[in-house]
Amino acid sequence: MLNKIKKLPKNISLLISAGEVIDKPVSIIKELVENSIDAKSKKIIIEVKNGGKEYISVTDDGIGINPSEIELAFESHSTSKLSTTDDIYKVSSLGFRGEALSSISSISKIECISRIKKNNFATLLEIKFGEIVNKTKVGANYGTKIVIKEIFYNIPARLKYLQSRKSETGKISQFVQSIALGYPEISFILISDEITKFITNGDNSQITNLSKFYKLKNIDLIDINCKENNYELSGYISKPDINFGNRSRMNISINNRVIKNTKIFYTIENAYKNFNNKRFPIICLNIKIPFNEVDVNVHPQKHEIKLENESEILSFIYNNLTKILNSEIPSNSIRFELNQNKVISNYENRSSQQDLLFDSDESISLKNAIPLLRFVGQIKNTFILCEGPDGLYIIDQHAAHERILFEKYVNENHPNDFQILNINRYIDLGTIQNNKILNEVEKFKEMGWDIDESATGEIIVRNVPHVGLYKTKESDLDKILSIISNDLDNNLDTPKNIISKRLACHTAVRAGDKLDDSESINLINELEKTSIPWDPHGRPAVIKLDYQNISSQFGR
Ligand SMILES: Nc1ncnc2c1ncn2[C@@H]1O[C@H](COP(=O)(O)OP(=O)(O)OP(=O)(O)O)[C@@H](O)[C@H]1O
Ligand SMILES: [Mg+2]
Repeated sequence: MLNKIKKLPKNISLLISAGEVIDKPVSIIKELVENSIDAKSKKIIIEVKNGGKEYISVTDDGIGINPSEIELAFESHSTSKLSTTDDIYKVSSLGFRGEALSSISSISKIECISRIKKNNFATLLEIKFGEIVNKTKVGANYGTKIVIKEIFYNIPARLKYLQSRKSETGKISQFVQSIALGYPEISFILISDEITKFITNGDNSQITNLSKFYKLKNIDLIDINCKENNYELSGYISKPDINFGNRSRMNISINNRVIKNTKIFYTIENAYKNFNNKRFPIICLNIKIPFNEVDVNVHPQKHEIKLENESEILSFIYNNLTKILNSEIPSNSIRFELNQNKVISNYENRSSQQDLLFDSDESISLKNAIPLLRFVGQIKNTFILCEGPDGLYIIDQHAAHERILFEKYVNENHPNDFQILNINRYIDLGTIQNNKILNEVEKFKEMGWDIDESATGEIIVRNVPHVGLYKTKESDLDKILSIISNDLDNNLDTPKNIISKRLACHTAVRAGDKLDDSESINLINELEKTSIPWDPHGRPAVIKLDYQNISSQFGR
């Protein structure tokens, strides 16, 4: 028989809503730190023990909570941040639901000490699993300190699912870094198991924080500052050759709210795809969008947001990052001088080969990133020196040739220029690997390979494309096809890109190869026509020594 419908007791309904907001120590820290930021703090100290499972405290020097309102702050649906329904549609504070403190207090033991500046005393409020057990006056600095213990003691199932000290500490550290990057004007201190993990000095410099967290130098970063219609993109991204195997260093916020929006992550990664497909950059970017175009009330932990003009915003991010990245030439000069106007003036119409994830009316115009260069000489049979309008350019001949060949292969469509092999080659990589290649026969054919399956399931190669100066070494074919079939197995890139990258790498001139002047000049001319002066794996093909810099080294 069905039970009667009845209203849930408050303690049960609180536990249910707490479950949505608080699922691990880092979610408590997120709520407390966001409250401290909303309270206009200049300094926020976060202390945890045993990954937050044993102890969490967040201390700030913000506006504090009025003694007469302190109990109310821990009631559900009580907030000082919203008053009218209109406010929900243009939330500018990090908190707005009035749920966090009540949720945290229902699953732990809390001590809150808070003092507003004009009082000379603080108020201590103690709450145990939702019940107020003590309220007294105490002495303390102005601001608020909240201490949490016995987290999830009344929900053993959740307690059981907390991860190891190391893993929970890692999540906390990553979150505090991310929010500290978003608020460089606030000093954050993270102490874990009595060891200070980091202190940011609140000097309003994202670069200082980036170099502290990721050991970066100025020269590793590209300054981003773009504005279009009502949108603004600002912060730093790492040069394409500084990259990692996961997304943990990608810090993105919208209106200074740290978010995890898959589409935005994917859009940014797509802009990097030209350089490196499998790796992820360091990013610290804030996207400013008018508050009324962002719905922040779609996720209990406020990680997700809903954007009214999503595709317009994604295009704005993608187009601007692509332009800036494609114009990047590693240089020994100060790097933080790029601004959008400068970058745009470097371009002329040339459509990008990027597949956009979304519809964009505006096709991106790109011009070759490097200027016309005059050949000076080859050094160490590896680098080509050139004079450019603004500096001395040093070209890595292998990386440059790889980029040239990669773009040729990618753009190739049934070329007539074959390299006819002396004899047909039969290549056997084993049935599974053979099939990986044979499944893509059409792609290979499109690119000028004459390739087929033999009666016994091997790969027959009759002709390979002939591109530029260098021929594919016939003896390399087994190796090239074996690498391509492996890549096809575990790569998100398109088969054409995979094949092109490998082929480019194997057929490009090598470091140590002597080039005569005409070969070098040919290489420079071809490089000038490419869209990016980087090899397809994300290494620079060109670096520039600014004349200004050279002159100053000579004291001119
Ligand atoms: N560190 C703090 N300093 C000053 N006031 C605070 C602090 N933390 C909380 N408060 C007050 O307590 C209220 C309740 O906080 P709580 O986090 O529960 O809700 P909220 O921040 O308004 O909304 P949300 O649930 O979305 O976080 C806040 O609106 C704020 O007025
Ligand atoms: Mg809050």
